Amino acid sequence: MDLGLKGKRALVVASSHGLGKAAAMELGREGARLAMCSRDPAAIERAADEIRGQTKAEILPLVADVTVSGDIERLVNETMMHFGGIDILVTNAGGPPATTFAGTPPEAWQKAFDLTLMSAVNLCRAVVPQMKQRRWGRIIFITSITVKQPAANLILSNVIRISLSGLCKSLSNEFAAENILVNSVLPGYTLTERLAELSEAQSHQRGVSKDEIIAEWEKRIPMCRLGKPEELGALIAFLASERASYITGTCIQVDGGYIEGVY
Ligand SMILES: NC(=O)c1ccc[n+]([C@@H]2O[C@H](COP(=O)([O-])OP(=O)(O)OC[C@H]3O[C@@H](n4cnc5c(N)ncnc54)[C@H](OP(=O)(O)O)[C@@H]3O)[C@@H](O)[C@H]2O)c1
Repeated sequence: MDLGLKGKRALVVASSHGLGKAAAMELGREGARLAMCSRDPAAIERAADEIRGQTKAEILPLVADVTVSGDIERLVNETMMHFGGIDILVTNAGGPPATTFAGTPPEAWQKAFDLTLMSAVNLCRAVVPQMKQRRWGRIIFITSITVKQPAANLILSNVIRISLSGLCKSLSNEFAAENILVNSVLPGYTLTERLAELSEAQSHQRGVSKDEIIAEWEKRIPMCRLGKPEELGALIAFLASERASYITGTCIQVDGGYIEGVY
């Protein structure tokens, strides 16, 4: 299937590793031109080189912290100057720390809010006006299965990520008539650095090995294995494409069947 992504201009943030990088890789494979960013200059250059090597995509690697509004402004301006427009925005960020309600200090709430929600709000504010002018756009939020099924020890993710689902649905309604489609993708347990961090945190909290924690997760997944980043990347590339032209306002999990609810 030709996704019709050749020459489309995509900004994929927080993409030096893991799910963001996998999204950039899949979009690159489909012929999109890419701007990527993370906070670590060497890491984002490495990721860009790897994707260029595998896909021949044109890539603009940039350094930006998505919690800093000035960085977002610069990131979007530099991308606009280089490509002349942004057709596809994939929002992402590092995950908030793994804690319980009792173990979360007051300042951690604001930090997680800025990281998870405000980064996406600020990116949309910067990118949407030029999408409106062209009457074409795709926005994809990378969130989490915690928006449908809260997880133990992930209070900040459970509480704050669900606001992204509200943002997704609201923006999809507000911009549908201008052909800007907004969707969320909800990774389940997927093998990235973030997952290694979470297994380590749980291993400390519970005094069992990281391998045992991972084996426990796998047991609770109907497909009996962790996800691969490219499995989320494939959905993102589809949602970003012409082929997803009547899909907006949805939250789609990629979780090997982990979420127990019907919807
Ligand atoms: N993997 C899973 O199983 C899973 C499941 C559900 C939800 N999620 C969520 O999905 C998101 C991505 O997860 P992942 O597994 O891909 O994480 P990851 O492997 O830790 O990668 C996170 C990426 O985000 C970048 N980043 C972090 N904070 C940033 C910031 N403030 N500004 C710009 N870039 C930033 C990191 O690069 P730098 O450090 O260089 O900035 C890195 O490239 C996270 O929010 C995570 O909680 C993951």
